[in-house]
Amino acid sequence: MLWLKAFHIVFMVTWFAGLFYLPRLFVYHAQASDAPSLERFQVMERRLFVIMTIGAVLTAAFGVAMVMVAPYLLAGGWLHAKLTLVAVLIAYHLWCWRLIKQLGSGRARHSDRWYRWFNEVPGVLLIAIVVLAVVKPF
Ligand code: HEM
Repeated sequence: MLWLKAFHIVFMVTWFAGLFYLPRLFVYHAQASDAPSLERFQVMERRLFVIMTIGAVLTAAFGVAMVMVAPYLLAGGWLHAKLTLVAVLIAYHLWCWRLIKQLGSGRARHSDRWYRWFNEVPGVLLIAIVVLAVVKPF
């Protein structure tokens, strides 16, 4: 169980590295206008999205594996609340893909300021999910 938990946390860190960096790239992408920069941001965003998706899938896989090893955990209200926030995190992850496509096709609808606020969301979710997973308040 502890090996599963260790790798669960390792891949969660990988996932969050992308969730913190990708929206930052959106800020710079929204500020750029020259073709070489726009192209470079497009490549960086797509590659980072692949890496963070691998992190997300493996975080979930090791999480599900722990539930299979210890199904009594499913009775915990903390895990229900945690998985609800994880569902929000997955929606945020998929929204990032939509924004990559919008920025790539030059149809970006948001200002760099909007992306700065968008960038704050994963931090709030990280704090809430880790507190639920470690403290298990209910
Ligand atoms: C589908 C996604 C996920 C599932 C099914 C899942 C499930 C679990 C389970 C069953 C545990 C073991 C709890 C225990 O033994 O005390 C755990 C631990 C943990 N999870 Fe997740 N998790 C998921 C996503 C996440 C995410 C996104 C984060 C971070 C933001 C996260 C952070 C943690 C942490 C820090 C622990 C260690 C808690 C401790 O040992 O006290 N998990 N997770």
